[in-house]
Amino acid sequence: MMHELGKKSSILNHYIAEIRDETIQKDSLRFRRNLERIGEILDYEISKTLTYESKSVKTPLGEAKVELMAEQPVIASILRAGLTMHNGLIHTFDKAENAFISAYRRPTGTDEIDVMVEYKACPDLTDKTLIVADPMLATGLSMALVFEALLKNGTPKKIHIASAIASRSAIDMLKKNLPIPADIWVGAIDEKLNSKSYIVPGLGDAGDLAYGVKL
Ligand code: URA
Repeated sequence: MMHELGKKSSILNHYIAEIRDETIQKDSLRFRRNLERIGEILDYEISKTLTYESKSVKTPLGEAKVELMAEQPVIASILRAGLTMHNGLIHTFDKAENAFISAYRRPTGTDEIDVMVEYKACPDLTDKTLIVADPMLATGLSMALVFEALLKNGTPKKIHIASAIASRSAIDMLKKNLPIPADIWVGAIDEKLNSKSYIVPGLGDAGDLAYGVKL
């Protein structure tokens, strides 16, 4: 299932406008914080799909019935850029388990993309709800490879992908190629990729904007 949250006007679209804006995005603190805020909003929407149970809490004046989450998700972020959203995601799900996995585009000297998945720190995923965060879903290739690596740690009962901006082709690719279907939550969908597989209009390189230019 696809959820493009920016289609409905809300404060979310201000955060997306700021990460796209070529002047505002140069303030890396603000860029990181905006991605964190986008993560918090996506998580809030995802929280509505989880399982809840009735409990009661004692207040100073009596007892209140509350509906509380009966499960805690695992939040997996793709290094580097996913770290920005990760902080937002764990602010919302503050008892979640965490996973980290690296995926980077190895330079090939051509427009071909070669994605390397090298580092993984991940708990058992069996029967859990997994949320995988990557701010930019450009081709879908990194996400598909990350899925392959994460699923070696067990089969989750439900998977959500959380992204700020996705390309239409990445969404189509993931719908066709993921071994387990996932709910995809994005702020915005852009129609194009350039020859280097960057999203257009997109925002540029999210990892570089958040953490500095890499070699
Ligand atoms: N990663 C980014 O940071 N930006 C893109 O446009 C594509 C991949």
